[in-house]
Amino acid sequence: MCGIIGIIGKAEVTPLLIDGLRRLEYRGYDSAGVAIISDKKIARRRAEGKLNNLQKLVETDPVSGTIGIGHTRWATHGAPTEANAHPHSDGKVVLVHNGIIENYQDLRKELAAEGHNFETETDTEVVVHLVSSFIDKGLSPRDAVAQTLKKLHGAFALAILFSGHDELMIGARRGSPLAVGYGDGEMYLGSDALTLAPLTQRISYLEEGDYAIVTREGAEIYDSDDQSVEREIKLTATSGAMIGKGNYPHFMLKEIYEQPAVMGDTLQAILNPWNRTVTLPDLPFDPTHISRITIVACGTSFYAGMVARYWLEKLVRVPVDIDIASEFRYRDVDLPAGGVALFISQSGETADTLAALRFAKQQGQKIISLVNVPESSMARESDLILQTKAGPEIGVASTKAFTTQLTVLACLAIGLGSQRGSITKETVAGLCQALTEVPTRANDVLVHDERLAELAHEIAEARDVLYLGRGTGYPIALEGALKLKEISYIHAEGYAAGEMKHGPIALIDETVPVIVVAPSDELFEKTASNMQEVIARGGRVIFMSDKAGIEKLGNMAAATIELPTVDPFVAPILYAIPVQLLAYHTACIKGTDVDQPRNLAKSVTVE
Ligand code: F6R
Repeated sequence: MCGIIGIIGKAEVTPLLIDGLRRLEYRGYDSAGVAIISDKKIARRRAEGKLNNLQKLVETDPVSGTIGIGHTRWATHGAPTEANAHPHSDGKVVLVHNGIIENYQDLRKELAAEGHNFETETDTEVVVHLVSSFIDKGLSPRDAVAQTLKKLHGAFALAILFSGHDELMIGARRGSPLAVGYGDGEMYLGSDALTLAPLTQRISYLEEGDYAIVTREGAEIYDSDDQSVEREIKLTATSGAMIGKGNYPHFMLKEIYEQPAVMGDTLQAILNPWNRTVTLPDLPFDPTHISRITIVACGTSFYAGMVARYWLEKLVRVPVDIDIASEFRYRDVDLPAGGVALFISQSGETADTLAALRFAKQQGQKIISLVNVPESSMARESDLILQTKAGPEIGVASTKAFTTQLTVLACLAIGLGSQRGSITKETVAGLCQALTEVPTRANDVLVHDERLAELAHEIAEARDVLYLGRGTGYPIALEGALKLKEISYIHAEGYAAGEMKHGPIALIDETVPVIVVAPSDELFEKTASNMQEVIARGGRVIFMSDKAGIEKLGNMAAATIELPTVDPFVAPILYAIPVQLLAYHTACIKGTDVDQPRNLAKSVTVE
């Protein structure tokens, strides 16, 4: 989180920086700022709140220059005020930072003792003063940065400018991503290729510990041992077109409605509908000798992994372990020889998931990453990349990334099962057939939008909401609760339906809506019993099931949503859609900022 950009070029840089920050807003939106070297001096403009506030500020108080840096912030240390907004400066050095400097308190004490004054509550400000202190001792800007980097613990991507130098920009990274963009007499730094896409397609990614000395003519890159290194310049396929909302009021709704199309695009790359088979990319391991599959992810991507665990265990017949990345990376677990580790991430940059990936790699696991951004850090560090074709997801609440993750994971389970011989050709054909129907069935689900919008009025009144499911319906219950929490700010919990009687059933009364996710599968009767237990205690159930399920139980529920009758294998992909819509409409009724909910950011690049 936090997005950074730097430009050293020929044209007025402020509008280019603001445009770049627009593309970075998904990484944080509690404040934003730019700094320009104008007449050899540092000029800063910073504003609390959304980027529009900064845009207004630079319109009323313009600043001119052809070299500048910019930042969108997701606060870690220090409240989201103008004073804490980046760029930070002491008048000699100015910089933007993504990440966390973990030893900032010690450094701050040392620097304060040397007479440095601190104006902010941030961890970042120590970097400014460290660089300055080395310059004061006679080091060049380049050497001052190199020395500073050696003193920093934690994660950072930095873009740094210097008073009196309108020909020099320095970038550095450790833990957080940073790309160098190559233009014609112009050079760029950016958190990702999307930021730089309208400026250049020629990108090289800094590796861990690298720093780059950037001038208008090019970049010299050094590794953490100060050795000059070459980093390949790649042509990025990322489009520079600004993604719009079309006729939709929010990106989230647009992205929900895009699901049938992007599920189709995702399937097209991996599933052959004519002979009903899955074609996985070449595997970097022998599928008949996998000892264990370890799945690691965060948030919504973790719930996709939970669904995949059911599929992989059933179809591939291999033990599957799953954990959230922030726990997994510190569990100090021994991973088995012959193990495969699967990392799921929309952004491919989530700090905890990336650290977990590196840990699994050290333990000799073959690494598969399932990402939506093929140039992301995770993709670059994996043995095998699986890609969702969701296209850019702008709404902070993940929707189409989740259902396309499920689509790929379903194909992975079929593909591995077929290569291991743990499922028959007929089973493969049947499951592929069910998957090819998913985009059409997803359209059928969207027909319930209006009804879900009506039901959202009841949810919007509630203080607490429960979601229940079993089997692959359980992660969908968790995902439904997460969607509702993050965009409507209503407290919600997802539970395995069978677990209710072990405690949570005490919460049930007529004020707590209970959403039951229950396709008619082999566990339907069991879920039905749990639902009866809720109804017997006065709970108001919103029942999501298919025709057969509703015929059996529909009249007992306060409300029903009839979803298409499908092979239970693909049900979780489709049942994700009504829980997204219910959360979306509830948030709209509550008047929250649906696309940029409070306290969140799209790409979580800090621990
Ligand atoms: C919820 C949501 C988050 C992300 C999580 C992981 O709607 O979007 O829970 O799923 O932060 O992000 P990625 O998938 O980019 O690793």
